[in-house]
Amino acid sequence: MNRVYIKTYGCQMNERDSEAVAAMLRDRGYSIVDSEHHADIVLLNTCSVRDQAEQKAIGKAGHLTKNKRERSDYILGIMGCMAQNRGDELVDRIPDLDLVVGTQKFHQVPDHLDNIIQSRNGLGPRPTTIVDLDEEEGSQNTIRAHLNAERKVSAFVSIMQGCNMNCAYCIVPKTRGRERSRPIDSIVEEVHELAQAGTKEITLLGQIVNLYGRDCMRRENGKSPFVRLIESVHEVPGVERIRFTSPHPVGFRKDLIEAYRDLPKLCPYIHFPMQSGNNRVLKAMKRTYTIERYRHIVDQLREMVPDMFFSTDVIVGFPGETEDEFQDTVHHFKDIAFDMAFLFKYSIRTGTEAADMEDQIPQEEKEARLQVLLDTLEGQSLKRNQSMVGSIQEILVEGQARRGDNMFMGRTPGFRKVIFPGSDRLVGELVPLRITEASTSTLRGELLLNGVEPETNVSLPSIAV
Ligand code: SAH
Ligand code: SF4
Ligand code: F3S
Repeated sequence: MNRVYIKTYGCQMNERDSEAVAAMLRDRGYSIVDSEHHADIVLLNTCSVRDQAEQKAIGKAGHLTKNKRERSDYILGIMGCMAQNRGDELVDRIPDLDLVVGTQKFHQVPDHLDNIIQSRNGLGPRPTTIVDLDEEEGSQNTIRAHLNAERKVSAFVSIMQGCNMNCAYCIVPKTRGRERSRPIDSIVEEVHELAQAGTKEITLLGQIVNLYGRDCMRRENGKSPFVRLIESVHEVPGVERIRFTSPHPVGFRKDLIEAYRDLPKLCPYIHFPMQSGNNRVLKAMKRTYTIERYRHIVDQLREMVPDMFFSTDVIVGFPGETEDEFQDTVHHFKDIAFDMAFLFKYSIRTGTEAADMEDQIPQEEKEARLQVLLDTLEGQSLKRNQSMVGSIQEILVEGQARRGDNMFMGRTPGFRKVIFPGSDRLVGELVPLRITEASTSTLRGELLLNGVEPETNVSLPSIAV
């Protein structure tokens, strides 16, 4: 009875935390399975950022408690942001839970599971629900282990935890605590290990990733700790591509913009949350920048890298957002011509400043505004993708595509997904592809042999894959 299934909700940071927990559990002798149906232990790693995310996980946990009634050895746990946010309330609501673990205690999960199992075997005190939600100094340094069983072409690396911003709508500072950064050396060592195991692409993760290190390091020679970290990761042999998420306009300075010029491994793609295109709304959101400042950064990046790809987050229907203010968002959304976006209806988060604001926007209005942006995005993404048809792109091959025999999936430097006929031996390789078709979310391509287009070189046999 030691097969563990971890189900992850929420952001990349949660994905990374789940993976680290899985690696720690495997080192402790647990086996990690990829389906709840084959598991004796199910851990839900949860998100609180919107109500829907919480409801999904609560529904799932409720559903899984039936397994507990059928199997005395079954263990059910909730970890992560909702555990931190709702703690004891969760135990009241789902009394069958065995474990509730907060965002600074992921590394304690193996001990807790060991204890639960031992006490069930009569070797310890009678089990009750274990609730572990404390803060822990240095916990940011514990998200380090990776599951290396299969070669990971692309890996997330968590460089900091927490957020000191105070955006009026956001629960994350409550769920993740104060900003705490890991030392550069330890991050670089982790990247070295990944690269040695075959990882080619590194995505650095933090809630406001460009402010990495402001809690414990200084700027040096005009460079922020974040830029110095990227430079160090850039030097790691084997790493071919570097990405990061999510940066904030505050602290987005010249050194980071110049990094795009100076560091070729830094990919020409940025996920850069805008949230709103209206200054009154941005101020009410406590985003601490103006839309002009945001646009200035976008312009500077485009100047440095003319074919940069841009993605963003937008919230529609923040309390008090008027139709005109929403139209400002639409205007900037179109004018910047985002290639990708995560678009959200404002969701009331109890305990945040905006939850108590007057003028909450009716659900139907939020939905209508969301639809406007979704339609706009669809057109923009399609247009940008279509503009790539016929071009040759360097793709990092990540693995088999979900559908189609011998179809493989990779990404362009600009993070566009490409599907193409290939073979297993290309996984982990950077290969040139000619883009042949485009839809809103996906490109199709064909391999070039040694960078030469097959149909322009008739002496070549069929594509060697
Ligand atoms: N740290 C990142 C965002 C992390 S949360 C940043 O500041 O850019 C991811 C996204 O969820 C946010 O960018 C925001 O667009 C959205 N979000 C956060 N709280 C929300 C809420 N209460 N309702 C709707 N969307 C929300
Ligand atoms: Fe939330 Fe704002 Fe922090 Fe992002 S910067 S995690 S939106 S409080
Ligand atoms: Fe959700 Fe926590 Fe990420 S609230 S968005 S899982 S930091």
